[in-house]
Amino acid sequence: MSIIFDEEQQILHIRNHAISYIMEIVDGKYLAHRYFGKSIRSYHKTGITQYFKRGYTTEHEISIPYASFDDFPFEYPVREHGDFRIPAFAAEPASGITYSQLEFHSFEVQKGKPAIAGLPSVFASQEEAETLKIICEDPTAGIRVTLFYSIIDNLSIVLRHQKIDNVGRHSLRLHNVQSLSLELPPQPYEFLSLYGSHAKESNRSRFPLHYGIQRIESLRGSSSPQNQPFFALMSPNITEEHGEVYGFHLVYSGNFLAQAEKDSFGNVRAQIGLHPESFSWVLEPGETFETPEAVLNYSDSGLNQLSQNFHQLYLEHLIPPQFTRRTRPILLNSWEAMYCNVSMEKIDIQSSLAKDLGIELFVLDDGWFRSGNTTQTSMGDWICNEQKLPGGIKTAADLVHKKGLLFGLWFEPEAVGKDSVLFQEHPNWILGIPGYNRTEGRHEYLLDLSQKPVQEHIKHMLDSYLKDGDIDYIKWDMNRPLTDVNSISLDKNRKKEISHRYILGLYHILNWLKNSYPNLLIEGCSSGGARFDPGMLYYVPQIWASDNTDAYDRTSIQDGFSLLYPPSAISAHVSIVPNHQTGRTTSLETRYQTASLFTLGYELDLTLCSAEEQNVIKQQIADYKQNQKNFLSSTFYRHTTPDDNHIMWSIVNETDCFLYIMQKRHDPLRSHGKFHLLGLDPNADYQNIDTKEIFSGDELMHIGITIPCVKEDYHTFILHFRKM
Ligand code: DGJ
Repeated sequence: MSIIFDEEQQILHIRNHAISYIMEIVDGKYLAHRYFGKSIRSYHKTGITQYFKRGYTTEHEISIPYASFDDFPFEYPVREHGDFRIPAFAAEPASGITYSQLEFHSFEVQKGKPAIAGLPSVFASQEEAETLKIICEDPTAGIRVTLFYSIIDNLSIVLRHQKIDNVGRHSLRLHNVQSLSLELPPQPYEFLSLYGSHAKESNRSRFPLHYGIQRIESLRGSSSPQNQPFFALMSPNITEEHGEVYGFHLVYSGNFLAQAEKDSFGNVRAQIGLHPESFSWVLEPGETFETPEAVLNYSDSGLNQLSQNFHQLYLEHLIPPQFTRRTRPILLNSWEAMYCNVSMEKIDIQSSLAKDLGIELFVLDDGWFRSGNTTQTSMGDWICNEQKLPGGIKTAADLVHKKGLLFGLWFEPEAVGKDSVLFQEHPNWILGIPGYNRTEGRHEYLLDLSQKPVQEHIKHMLDSYLKDGDIDYIKWDMNRPLTDVNSISLDKNRKKEISHRYILGLYHILNWLKNSYPNLLIEGCSSGGARFDPGMLYYVPQIWASDNTDAYDRTSIQDGFSLLYPPSAISAHVSIVPNHQTGRTTSLETRYQTASLFTLGYELDLTLCSAEEQNVIKQQIADYKQNQKNFLSSTFYRHTTPDDNHIMWSIVNETDCFLYIMQKRHDPLRSHGKFHLLGLDPNADYQNIDTKEIFSGDELMHIGITIPCVKEDYHTFILHFRKM
């Protein structure tokens, strides 16, 4: 790992064994991007655009003959003086004219990886990481922009963010500050993103990049189920195992914009960052603004390698480190068993049965504070309904603890209902626009998390439940998009700061929670996976992936999330059939196997399971516990299957390989399928733990294992091979 400046060539080269990121300082002032990709030893200015005299363009003081800003590879581009493509930066100084010229000023290399004030970010030790800071300035506007590039040893990843300082004497307004801008050479690309909705998150969208701008975004106040804050540009023939891909992921939980522009010459500019439509920021003299962090990921070995880079980064350098290698308790969640109709008696019965089956944590979901049995009332005051739960949460926790289980509790701290005392006493604490009725979402409004007193109120409320140590786990839910985004606490020239300030407020509370209760297991949730993003993962090690618990749908949802997130971050539950969301019936085996490579839970009324089913569940849990530790140190692969009728994953480590295959439908035209394994030792032999058959590693990888076609829809197979 090194960051080197070649003075003669004016080249800055960031490099580790896997990747190189190269920039050139042209004429001492223009910062040009030269290369990002597979590691190269040294760079001698190959691959630079050759300009010819063009019409209908602009002219500039630059030593490169005929250089045109139309396709000049600016490292951090601004508009208004010849580069008409998507800008990464726009600021309005005291002149009132949105105009700036950022020129290279200086650079500095430091050991380690700096944190970003108030925002989640990747962490690494002084030995593991190095950071390049490049300072660009516009003295006329009084703006200094510091571009950060951090590289971690052994990872094909560059971490990017920007710091803006107002070094002038007047206030200025930031309109657009992208976390990353990257120039890519003219070649064919496909644009990959993950789209979805509530109960059908994380589906792949893939199309050829055409001329012009292609973008995905969220303006819903959170990262949203509609689009992951992620996209990739990849070679058109890419597969899971082969091909080149650049991945862009934002460590942020609010509104974002992710876009790529292919210019008339075929060059591509890619960007990700805060959404300029819902953002602006007033910066007073001496003040600083820092953007969220963007993860820039490169693979020349297909999408699996891209995923494995993300997984390693998030496991080892993002989630709270005490959970990186900690097995997560297998839980029973009350939601699909009780919905809001909770009672002490039900908790008693369910947790007794859970204990017998080997479950380790009982989670009391929504309903414990509601006056009725629907989601229509009582949000915001967080007072336990003792008619449902005599003795309150303490009694419920004691009951569960006495059975030898951990106790978990559901909260939706950001929401407030009209019938709450909080709403009556503090109407100004709620997002809303004077003169208009607020828009309800799931019968709720949202607290204005940008306000300090609101943050303190939520911290105090959570503390009152957590301080006695009765609660071992909390589920932090959030069930609606942000609307009526207005805060009474900000004056009118700061109104476009609110969306970002809301997220900063959320992070402030989560940071307090994480630091005050380091051993508390927090599960993120937002109507399922509506706020499943790297920003949240900095505070919570696992996130509920979807309210859709149907095993068939879950294969594609989990497959989508696995593109970005390590399996331990993805919560997956076994629920009852017919499935409550889809009406589909799948076998208990399929439901378990589909969840079994991820963080496992059960979410069903155990009294509805027959004695035989309970025995099956008991065995499933015993199997899971036996392998759970193994999973945390394994590599996750998605596999190309012989046809669309199958989904296949595996997790592989030094000693074991677990294979998951779902046959979507019975297909009478096929007697069997041949499935290739990945990541095995070609020179070792592997034994199928169930059948005792022995195969060589290269045989399993190059020829594949034969699986019969079974006469059942949604049939799954788990095969466990052990290296001999
Ligand atoms: C949405 C979550 O995704 C569910 O799991 C459940 O917690 C409900 N909210 C409760 O209201």
